[in-house]
Amino acid sequence: MPEELIAVLDFGGQYSHLITRRIRECEVYSELLPYNISPRELLKLNAKGLVLSGGPSSVYDENAPQCDPGIFELGVPVLGICYGLQLMVQMLGGHVKATKRREYGKTELQIKDTSDLFKGINDRIISWMSHGDYAEVLPKGFEIMASSQNCPTAAVRDSSRRLFGVQFHPEVAHTENGIQIIRNFVSGISRCSPNWSPRSIIETAVQRIRSEAAGDAVLLAISGGVDSTTTGVLVQKAVGDRLTCVFVNHGLLRKDEDKIVLKALKDLKLNVHYVDASDRFLVRLKGVSDPEEKRKVIGEEFIRVFAEESAKLGTFQCLAQGTLYPDVIESAGTGSPASRIKTHHNVGGIPEWSKFRIIEPLRFLYKDEVRKIAKQLGIPDAIVKTHPFPGPGLAVRIVGEATGEKLRICREASVIVEDVLRHHEMYDSVWQAFATVGDDLAVGVLGDERNLGHMVTVRIVKSLDGMTADWARVPSEVLEEISNRITGEVSGVTWVSYAITSKPPSTIEPC
Ligand code: XMP
Repeated sequence: MPEELIAVLDFGGQYSHLITRRIRECEVYSELLPYNISPRELLKLNAKGLVLSGGPSSVYDENAPQCDPGIFELGVPVLGICYGLQLMVQMLGGHVKATKRREYGKTELQIKDTSDLFKGINDRIISWMSHGDYAEVLPKGFEIMASSQNCPTAAVRDSSRRLFGVQFHPEVAHTENGIQIIRNFVSGISRCSPNWSPRSIIETAVQRIRSEAAGDAVLLAISGGVDSTTTGVLVQKAVGDRLTCVFVNHGLLRKDEDKIVLKALKDLKLNVHYVDASDRFLVRLKGVSDPEEKRKVIGEEFIRVFAEESAKLGTFQCLAQGTLYPDVIESAGTGSPASRIKTHHNVGGIPEWSKFRIIEPLRFLYKDEVRKIAKQLGIPDAIVKTHPFPGPGLAVRIVGEATGEKLRICREASVIVEDVLRHHEMYDSVWQAFATVGDDLAVGVLGDERNLGHMVTVRIVKSLDGMTADWARVPSEVLEEISNRITGEVSGVTWVSYAITSKPPSTIEPC
């Protein structure tokens, strides 16, 4: 990892990840860390600046999360955002009060000082606010830098201690020049050099893998997705032919995916061992309809096949995995209140008996960063631009038991969804697009007869990292084309619907 970072202390706000991502967009490395991390730990990480995130609590709530007061003594610049500002004010001797009227949404800000945090920014901007409390009395040494109609202390600072606070959210796209405010904090105030680029990420990752592998042989389960393929190319750069990749076809892949993936991996000169285990998985999935049970069965069977096959190939000391930063946070958390939603089988699936040393070169990366380094590594667009595909495959897109008939419908209908979006040049602008199918049947007119057929639901979502998502506002003509083609080309389908829930409350995949 880079030698310095900006630490974002996570108080459980919905935008905490966004802050980290925005800082990285300024080419400065940033990590989301538990709100109660100790000052010693922050020094060890060489944090050059700290951001205290927003959060759902009020500082007056019982058990309101508090950071270690020692972090204000480190001499490192601090930027408190929303709850982070209120907490800093309260902990340093000021006073926080409930606003008369809760401010929510786009709010005009009048900026009085543009010398540091607001450098290069107009004195009136639109900001994004979402708060019920505000800093009524500032601690000694603090002054006001910006105000809004309902919040006189919309931005504050103590120049001598380099402590800053904003009541609005600079990380949210609705705040004008928000990225410039963040850049001013990380580059101007905290003096971090912009060195977090695809090239430097690759160099650091390769060195790290080489030292972690320490001359031993490395095994990788590769799926042809951008994460495992990028992991493969990075590991290969680091250890050369000591890497062996195993590609298990569990029979739940998209149409022709096995052929496309094998060709791409061959072109990348990766050493790949292909196993077609579709029959085994489908047998194990017979009669299994509970989503978590399906994931468990697939996860266990996957490990079994993978272990059997790798045993045939030799002895390996290390196992590489394409785990991403949001997977790490979603499964383990930063100590913030985010709860675990689904078991992602590629994270929790390392078997107990494993003596492998785990190598996870993407563990600190977001998906868009992986795509950037994949491009830099020469991985073809067919892999880089393919939508994310879950480890348990189509099983999580089939509600109830994954039967051969439902698999066929899901596969054929999904190809149509992708095809139509590609034709309208919309494929690259959405996060995922697919068809789902369950056991619901509905009457339709097939030929001249009334007939029962399957109901297919089309799901197209926009997202930054899969942790939250919005359903895509696809033009009705495009939806009509999808619907006409599915009912016309996929036999056994009588109805097509479009999923219009976002995440939350829904998840992206139906199971
Ligand atoms: P959900 O459905 O939880 O999905 O909103 C969020 C993102 O994760 C993908 N996903 C998975 N990926 N193993 C994976 O590798 C899984 O078990 C799994 N479940 C969901 C999903 O496709 C979306 O991009």
